[in-house]
Amino acid sequence: MKILGTGSALPKKVVSNDDLAQVMDTSDEWIRTRTGIERRHIAVEETTTSLAVEACKKALEQSKVSIDELDLIVAATVSSDYIYPTLSCEIQAAIGAKNATAFDISAGCSGFLFALATADAYLRTGRYKNALILGAETLSKMMDWSDRSTCVLFGDGAGAAVVSAEGNQLLGMVQGSDGARGTVLKCKNRPVHNLYKQEAGQSLAYSYTEMDGSAVYKFAVRTVPNAIANVLEQAKVPVADVKYFLLHQANLRIIEAVAKRMNQPLEKFPTILEECGNISAASVPSLLDQIHREGKLSKGDKIVMAGFGAGLTWGACVLEW
Ligand code: UT7
Repeated sequence: MKILGTGSALPKKVVSNDDLAQVMDTSDEWIRTRTGIERRHIAVEETTTSLAVEACKKALEQSKVSIDELDLIVAATVSSDYIYPTLSCEIQAAIGAKNATAFDISAGCSGFLFALATADAYLRTGRYKNALILGAETLSKMMDWSDRSTCVLFGDGAGAAVVSAEGNQLLGMVQGSDGARGTVLKCKNRPVHNLYKQEAGQSLAYSYTEMDGSAVYKFAVRTVPNAIANVLEQAKVPVADVKYFLLHQANLRIIEAVAKRMNQPLEKFPTILEECGNISAASVPSLLDQIHREGKLSKGDKIVMAGFGAGLTWGACVLEW
């Protein structure tokens, strides 16, 4: 497979750390020093679908693949606007990709890596030729805004890529899951509401994101360096040959710890979390789009992309640009 185009989108409304400190007991100093996040974009007028469509249109325009040539859409999200129809079907309708098969993937913040792995597998079989893959989230609607330890970390956004079966850009891919540890980062679906199960005092209120931040932090700093080492070994690429490591943008301290464990300079780890916080499945493709549009990728460059998050799940790949 080969990436032919990338795109990303953020909501218009920018919320700084100081803005949050106006409405909850937090401070710019706490958020910056613990996470590196300076602001995030929160969807007010936008939806997960509208952000995704904006990112996808940019990726398609750059790719020069026509809408009719698109035969697969894989959207990674945990915050689609509807439970059904899926986000990918909403995108299909919005862009008029009538020849595409469309479905969603739910793998938390690893979602884009899982979408890439899925598209690659389909493209290798020859069943499809041109895929649109993306991560899009409006996590703001899933936050408990009275839980300062979690809500300050997340934001909304979307990132997309058009990938074609022609080319051999993907040199290696690893994925993993550990459902037994899934309770450290969770958000319950709608409560059971049926004719046969009603308990006195039962609440039909929705749940919001609950996270054991310290457990997720430890999981990330142990798992990500291992996943990257494994994928580099699989691809037979020495770590020193990697130009950029595009990590899921959760927390600058996690990125610094991974760089240290891998004995690699922090300059190889570009970031966007200062601007948008943790945008889950949208973070890796949005970061890829940023460095791509800045002209930082040249033919032959080797880059690693790695995601980790709810499930627990993780994924890492090596690409040769
Ligand atoms: O995609 C994966 C998503 N998950 C993550 O990225 C989470 C990874 N984990 C982390 O990034 C860190 O664990 C956090 C940033 C969430 C927390 O950092 P920490 O250094 O582990 O802080 P803490 O939870 O130990 O809290 C330290 C103190 C507590 O006060 P006390 O008990 O020491 O008095 C908290 O109540 O900081 C307090 N605190 C806050 N203070 C101001 C927690 N949240 C805030 C806040 N503002 N927003």
